[in-house]
Amino acid sequence: MKAGVRKAVLAYSGGLDTSIIIPWLRENYGCEVIAVTGGVGQDDELDGLEEKALASGASKVYIEDLRDEFIRNYIFPTMRAGAIYEGRYLLGSALSRPLIAKRMVEIAEMEGADALSHGCTGKGNDQVRFELTFKAMNPKLRVIAPWREWDIRSREQAIAYAQKHNIPCTVTEEKIYSNDTNLWHRSSEGGILEDPWKAPPDNLFEIVTPPEKAPDNPEAVQIDFEKGIPVGVEGERLSPLEIMIRLNRIASRNGIGIVDMVENRLVGIKSRGVYETPGGTLLYAAHREIESLVLDADTLHFKESLAPKYAELVYYGKWFTPLREALDGFVTSTQKHVTGTVKLKLYKGNVMIAGRQSPYSLYREDYATFGEDDVYDQKDAEGFINCFGLPLKVRAMLKLNGTGSTDYDHPDYSIFKRD
Ligand code: ARG
Repeated sequence: MKAGVRKAVLAYSGGLDTSIIIPWLRENYGCEVIAVTGGVGQDDELDGLEEKALASGASKVYIEDLRDEFIRNYIFPTMRAGAIYEGRYLLGSALSRPLIAKRMVEIAEMEGADALSHGCTGKGNDQVRFELTFKAMNPKLRVIAPWREWDIRSREQAIAYAQKHNIPCTVTEEKIYSNDTNLWHRSSEGGILEDPWKAPPDNLFEIVTPPEKAPDNPEAVQIDFEKGIPVGVEGERLSPLEIMIRLNRIASRNGIGIVDMVENRLVGIKSRGVYETPGGTLLYAAHREIESLVLDADTLHFKESLAPKYAELVYYGKWFTPLREALDGFVTSTQKHVTGTVKLKLYKGNVMIAGRQSPYSLYREDYATFGEDDVYDQKDAEGFINCFGLPLKVRAMLKLNGTGSTDYDHPDYSIFKRD
């Protein structure tokens, strides 16, 4: 028996792994176990969870509805930052971990627990994300990560352990993929996907309709933003939760939001993942479109340069850090005028922009027009180009007058000559 723990708070999903952790903790640490489930939109997975946790030996169960907080304080800020990991991943799993971990620490403090535990394996990113948040919130709580400690090595061994301990375990059949589902996304890893040359089979997709099975007619949708935050769909003002539900539905049926990628995990492993992020894909596209109207070039370009850094912080689990907070300060300041409406056209996996408008738009038709205008004097461009191109001109003159040669070879026309 390992000593020193009285009461542990466990991140509990109801799956096989976290179910066997309950008896394992009791057996190996002799402690009481409080199961905490962070509800972030994994809806059908929540059914019967409380009974299951209690039947597995938990002394108390918390099923927390974190959906609103998840969207408002984690998803939307990251979307506003335009953060995308390695150019593709919209960070769905990475975003939920700090929130769930924060709630676990709060419950541990409320319950006078002295340890925190999770079911993440020692090969993934999630262990890092949970534990960085634990450290940021309360470094005094001990962390128990059974996957890094026990000698259960396979699913079969886990099932055997469950049976031996009378843990309700319905999933005896071969589980093919490792999935993580919430309001923002569903990830799939493992199984056949471990071969990066193999395409994901159609039956892998549970949220998004494969594009070739999507309707033959395009569908239109309008999204409203205020200060960079989505506030309505089709002109109807909705809560963040309602917005996500609506957009997920419409994007899913049109085959939108599938990403298949090989990504770099924190622990040094390259891994192949398939993501379904339907509504999120619409939001990123639409939000970016309003920014194109209202942000000046310098701010837009600088903001774009920060987005990969923001994404990296989220992916690395560094949510509760001064840098992430400072970046949010910058992003918030840029969003003052990111208010307006975007029209999208959805068609078999594609998102097309059908229109954008904002009361703060810096776009001026009178300047941009190819027709006649009376605001822009084309003669001004000549002086501008003379100054803008002056360094190029000076360098070229040096080459011609100073050294008498240019950097470029004259073309060899002789090869075209016929004899
Ligand atoms: N690779 C993705 C990430 O690191 C997804 C992880 C999904 N987690 C899981 N326990 N299945 O964010």
